[in-house]
Amino acid sequence: MKIAIVIGTRPEIIKMAPVIDEIQKRSIDFILIHTGQHYDHEMSDQFFLDLELPKPHYNIGVGSASHAEMTADMMMGIEKVLLENNIDIVLVQGDTNAVLAGALVASKLHIPVGHVEAGLRSFDKTMPEEINRMVADVCSKLFFVPTEESAVNLVVEGVNPKNIIITGNTVVDACLRNLKIADKTSDILSKFDVNEKILTLTMHRAENVDNEERLTNIVESLIELDEFNIVFPVHPRTLKNLERFGLYAKLVEKEHINIIKPVGYLDFLLLLSKSFLIMTDSGGLQEEAITLNVPCITLRFNTERPETVTAGGNILVGSDKEKILETVRLILDDNSTREMMKKAINPYGDGKSSERILDSIQKNHDEDKLQIKPPEDVMRSFTREMAFLEDEITVSKFEEINNALVRVVYSEGRAEFPHQNLELNGKFVLFDKLT
Ligand code: UD1
Ligand code: UDP
Repeated sequence: MKIAIVIGTRPEIIKMAPVIDEIQKRSIDFILIHTGQHYDHEMSDQFFLDLELPKPHYNIGVGSASHAEMTADMMMGIEKVLLENNIDIVLVQGDTNAVLAGALVASKLHIPVGHVEAGLRSFDKTMPEEINRMVADVCSKLFFVPTEESAVNLVVEGVNPKNIIITGNTVVDACLRNLKIADKTSDILSKFDVNEKILTLTMHRAENVDNEERLTNIVESLIELDEFNIVFPVHPRTLKNLERFGLYAKLVEKEHINIIKPVGYLDFLLLLSKSFLIMTDSGGLQEEAITLNVPCITLRFNTERPETVTAGGNILVGSDKEKILETVRLILDDNSTREMMKKAINPYGDGKSSERILDSIQKNHDEDKLQIKPPEDVMRSFTREMAFLEDEITVSKFEEINNALVRVVYSEGRAEFPHQNLELNGKFVLFDKLT
């Protein structure tokens, strides 16, 4: 078996690292394709060093450009590499342009795609990431979803539940493994006064930092938050915009605000773990905050990680200055709110997601299911039906007796993922009856 892994940006390197480790541990043949979307040392190479990753076999070197130009260059580069290699499955991770390009190219070449962190939805189509993850999921064969909620997003969109594997998020694998290493090797804490309350801030979302009004609101709230020592490793996109809107000078003159270059993963994890509060618009940080039991404030109006909010570890504040200040001060002044946020249960698993991903890939490969089959092999007819079940019966028994595939289960007005052992008594079932 040969696996191709496509990565392009900082979070993909971090979240694919445990998958690459697991592939190497199992001595499976693989190629690593870097699209080159992130290219600064501190946005890319630093993570290969920190995470002890092999050098990419291919770097397409797309650099920065418009979405269309970047995606087109990635697609042409990835296609060439896939045609040169005999690949059994292409793995993509998350929701960047690399995921869009990798999934589209592979699916058109009839190479199965495994989407790591599939099924997330913000239901906000102004986000380029929402388009990317939806398109990637249309092109994918195996869906490695982090949570039950993301699995349900996919089944209601019509994805076959048999191809959805609830694995947890590989960010937990990365976080748990590397925090132990960071504890021994990182000296980041010597650079800041850890006796003060550290607020670690990151932001880079286009809808925040490219928008002058939103970015100004956020900056004005930071200026007022002098109860904290704010550590702000600034993303290159954000730095450019802070300068463009004349906001950079206002921030650097404040003693409580430390603007630094993006830092490596080991330093960053240790910094996060010692933070009083995390303020961010990053996807990965919302997950890391709840993994590390640090309260999180998210500078967005919606999130594709609603589990963090439901669990109580994350509060959405948008970019409204008053809302940001009010929420930060609530967490600062009210012990019980802060403790509740710290105790939120991590919905992203136990740190074994990459093992589950590789187990599933191996099983599908061994059972000869890693193939996009031509119509003459898969042609079959079915009727899609709905039924209310009054008997005690599990999904697997129902499927066996009725020669059916259960798609979604509805119970008390909620959609449920059709686990094989789920009891269907008293529930509505949407299923395909094979004829
Ligand atoms: C990209 C992803 C976003 C992800 C983020 C992770 C897309 C559409 N966006 O956003 O989903 O959350 O990465 O950080 O794929 N730049 C540099 N050096 C670099 C990289 C970028 O200076 O190494 C600057 C360039 O001016 C570039 C800008 O940052 O124009 C934005 O970079 P880009 O890769 O387009 O998007 P990100 O904001 O990084
Ligand atoms: N990160 C890092 N150093 C930094 C800022 C972030 O190592 O200076 C890590 C962070 O721990 C997380 C990932 O980068 O794992 C998140 O990347 P980013 O916020 O750029 O992307 P997103 O997750 O929003 O797609």
